Amino acid sequence: MATQPTWWKQAVLYELYVRAFRDADGDGHGDLRGVIERLDYVRDLGVDVLWLLPLSPSPLRDDGYDVTDYCDIHPDYGTLDDLRDLIDAAHARGLKVITDLVMNHTSSDHPWFQASRRRADGKADWYVWSDDPERYSEARVIFTDSETSNWTWDEVRGQYYWHRFFHHQPDLNYDHPDVRSTMLDVIRFWLECGVDGFRLDAIPYLYQREGTNCENLPETHAFLKVLRAHVESITPGAFLLGEVNQWPEDTLPYFGDGFDEMPLLFHFPVMPRLWKALAQGDAAPIRWILERTPAIPASCQWVVFLRNHDELTLEMVTEEERAFMYAAYAPEPVMRLNVGIRRRLAPLCDFERPRIELLHSLLMTLPGTPILYYGDEIAMGDDLTLFDRNGVRTPMQWNDGPGAGFSENPTTYAPLLRGATAPQRVNVAAAERDPGSLLHWIRTLIATRKRHPALGGGSFAMLPSPDPALAVFLSTSEDDAVVAVHNLAAEPRRLELAVPALAGRRLRLGFGGRLSQDAPRGTEATADAIPVALEGHGYAWWSPAEAPA
Ligand code: GLC
Repeated sequence: MATQPTWWKQAVLYELYVRAFRDADGDGHGDLRGVIERLDYVRDLGVDVLWLLPLSPSPLRDDGYDVTDYCDIHPDYGTLDDLRDLIDAAHARGLKVITDLVMNHTSSDHPWFQASRRRADGKADWYVWSDDPERYSEARVIFTDSETSNWTWDEVRGQYYWHRFFHHQPDLNYDHPDVRSTMLDVIRFWLECGVDGFRLDAIPYLYQREGTNCENLPETHAFLKVLRAHVESITPGAFLLGEVNQWPEDTLPYFGDGFDEMPLLFHFPVMPRLWKALAQGDAAPIRWILERTPAIPASCQWVVFLRNHDELTLEMVTEEERAFMYAAYAPEPVMRLNVGIRRRLAPLCDFERPRIELLHSLLMTLPGTPILYYGDEIAMGDDLTLFDRNGVRTPMQWNDGPGAGFSENPTTYAPLLRGATAPQRVNVAAAERDPGSLLHWIRTLIATRKRHPALGGGSFAMLPSPDPALAVFLSTSEDDAVVAVHNLAAEPRRLELAVPALAGRRLRLGFGGRLSQDAPRGTEATADAIPVALEGHGYAWWSPAEAPA
């Protein structure tokens, strides 16, 4: 049976785009050596796992999610030796490294696809070809702003090929045994390079079957079980995180029996509801999705996030919720992309610190392992003039120098931000100097979370609240408990809260923000009458007096 470590239940992840982080060789593109130079910064955040966006050779028409060679590194990023050095340097600092594995599709420039265009070639069936573009018509189009169909005509072959994403990303044919075995070889290759695991991109779409929506098919689960056993045989306990953007009931089967499929899965639908609850000043959307979230095997874990390298996806919401979210967070059409919103975290909060803090406090006390996206810890802005999702993938802002400490080259792969969020105003060096900066606050937040084994690793309940604006989370483990009270409303809240599960216990206020100054406010209370005295968007974490502070 597969081994199942649980260290990652308390872990915090940091998602990092290598091209955007630090350019060590001065060519204007971030690279692996640049990441090595900045590893102390990453470690000092208090995170445990680095998730690196795709590293392989690629025309970068989808930032590396369009692979042309699975077993090498993009020359702009460095070499395989650089990656090995990065992994060693990370491990020396107690950090793990996972990379994206893009199994579903390749670039149309991949030699496999080029070969497949000739019907007589040995790889002719490595992709999904058809004479009929009406095949699999129940499958939705995902990139609705760029594609109108999942089929594209190929002149050379004289047939259509299948793609769930951009037309230049043909889907591999997982019905072909050579495709499956080759992908298992690719996995072995990276594990032998030393990576600690993978974020498995777009796994619901591996197979197609007529009469279905071509998502979450039994064949997909069967292959993922093979994949899991293969990974375990090479690197027992590897960190495997599946990208399954589905409703909880459709996501649940990807955990398998707890040991034979994915140990970790993103909880996509909770994310937009955190934002919605914030905009509404009402915790109901969070309660709604958590109540719809089934229990998962004890050996498995949700992974939660506020933002990432993609648009803030609104696929797993109702029409009505989507309209609300667009009105609240993307009033200008330029802010919208596909079924989502292409803005960064800080701009979505109008750069208002209380809202940024509140969202992070929710994130760190939800059930699951949280991910932070590079740059959000310094409230980086975005650039809506850039194409597609590029506006949330701009160079990391290290200092106020000409190249922002990102590059010595005046021409960077994407322009540095200008105006109010330019590196001259928003950068790591300035945040380091300011003890009250968001960066310092994030470090404290992470350190506090990690002192509480109940967070991430314990059992979780969203408690009934006497006030709809309050989200009250209770996490408990053997020796620890955290009652996290969040005020979603912009107005203050004052009341007393009873937590029967901790009845009679003495609690201490451990961590909080926007605590009312003008109300009698204790830092000690009993669980029968916790004094809630929060300003708008305030939050407070209470724990038994004997638990870690
Ligand atoms: C995933 C990635 C996204 C990419 C897509 C196609 O959703 O997160 O960035 O464009 O897969 O590979």
